[in-house]
Amino acid sequence: MEGVSVGLLALGAIIALIVKVFVLPKLWYADFPGPKPESYLFGNTEFAEASNHVIQLQEKWMREHGKTYQSWICHRRLIVTVDVENVRFCLLKKKLRKSDAAYQNIKVVFGSGLLVQPDPAHRINRRALSKVFHGEFVPNFHKAIIEELEILCSRLDAAAENGEVFEPEAIISNMVGDATGRSLFGQSYGYQSGEHALVKDLIEIANEEAWKFILYPISKLLRPSKQKREILVEYKRRNQALLDERRREHEEQQTPKSNPDLLDALIESGRPDREILGEIGIFQFAALDTTSRAISAALFELSGSQDATLSLQKEADELINDSDLIVGFDKVDESPFSRAVWMETLRMHSPAGHGSYRTTDEDLTLPSGHFVPKNSDICFPMHLIHYDEDLWEQPRSFKPDRFLHPSSGRRPLTGYQPFSQGERNCIGQFLANHVGRVTLLTLHHRYEWKLFGDRAKFGDFGDFGLRLATEDGLESPRMTISRRH
Ligand code: HEM
Repeated sequence: MEGVSVGLLALGAIIALIVKVFVLPKLWYADFPGPKPESYLFGNTEFAEASNHVIQLQEKWMREHGKTYQSWICHRRLIVTVDVENVRFCLLKKKLRKSDAAYQNIKVVFGSGLLVQPDPAHRINRRALSKVFHGEFVPNFHKAIIEELEILCSRLDAAAENGEVFEPEAIISNMVGDATGRSLFGQSYGYQSGEHALVKDLIEIANEEAWKFILYPISKLLRPSKQKREILVEYKRRNQALLDERRREHEEQQTPKSNPDLLDALIESGRPDREILGEIGIFQFAALDTTSRAISAALFELSGSQDATLSLQKEADELINDSDLIVGFDKVDESPFSRAVWMETLRMHSPAGHGSYRTTDEDLTLPSGHFVPKNSDICFPMHLIHYDEDLWEQPRSFKPDRFLHPSSGRRPLTGYQPFSQGERNCIGQFLANHVGRVTLLTLHHRYEWKLFGDRAKFGDFGDFGLRLATEDGLESPRMTISRRH
């Protein structure tokens, strides 16, 4: 008899917990605009089914419910806002903290580097590393890019000669990976020479782990599978070897290094190995897919715009001597059109366009009038902001010229944010912009690019990062090239 009442009590407690966690919040916030959850337990099941159409679903909900709405994934409530005043208020004025839930998968896989660090540690570490990206180290980045672009061009020369049809995304990503490895850590990852650096495998694992966000905070206890853990251990071992080797070099060095990089700055910060490995991981993660996807998207857009291609070729031909392969470091600033092409590409195809995620530490009323209680997750999808017709004329058209004219300065600051904004914006944006522009100038000086196949079947798809691909995500644009010089 006693056993039965204990059992009943336990059942009652479980039911009460389910009602409190899954049912009541959906009733409390029923007046907030947003799609009605189809299920108390699973929330907006449409979201789970969206797979790599997250942005398309967000766009549909925005049209139906306005620029600020809520959606439910199981027990998690996510407020999405595309209203630039709200974005400014949250990112720049209130400086909301990063959402722990949204970045948990990255933390588990790559470690606790800047991207996922909470304040105040983040502020101190960011200040220490900023000098790498804004200081005297920058010309060293250029040298690394030149070396890797030379390898890429010899691969492309062969493609041009053989009339090969190829996917630029894959080979650009090898070049970007190796150039970032060389610039930040003094060593190419070796992707272009056929080695297996594991960075791409880890990005894949982070993508696969992203769904656990719906189980947060329980997800903190769920480890990746044994096979994935083995890859993570091997990845960490390699980065530890990289770090140990550099520490040895430091010990043997008599005078300060003339060309220090990120790894030197990390060692000089005096932080423990565990933290340095976390930073290495996060930089390897943050730099690779973002930059390579943006460059590939620019090649795609340029191949559909003869005017833009001719302007970029003209600029490249003026800046690159025939005897040179690559534009010089100082010349990049003399190329306003490459800047415009790059900015317009990042507007249309923001690799991180599904959004930045933040959490409120207090009850807030947004400038739009929506009340947001403490501990709410808010998402700012930059892809949708960049396609907002209230901010952008003909947002679906590729028009680099919009970034050449002074009138483009009248747009609100928060209307353009491929690198996010505020204290948690992208620390690597100078490097990304530089690699992007140098690569586009070089590749348009040397080759003529043609899309192979149907342009209309490509769009920005993804459930985590966005990628220019077919709807099923299996194909990226294929191209052919011929030599100009
Ligand atoms: C086109 C290329 C890139 C894009 C579109 C991009 C975009 C972004 C965005 C949107 C954020 C903020 C994320 C958030 O608010 O949640 C971010 C942060 C970050 N990015 Fe990038 N990124 C790019 C390239 C790079 C590169 C090349 C590096 C490294 C050299 C890098 C390193 C980082 C780091 C470390 C953070 C975290 C910064 C912090 O929280 O202090 N990114 N990036």
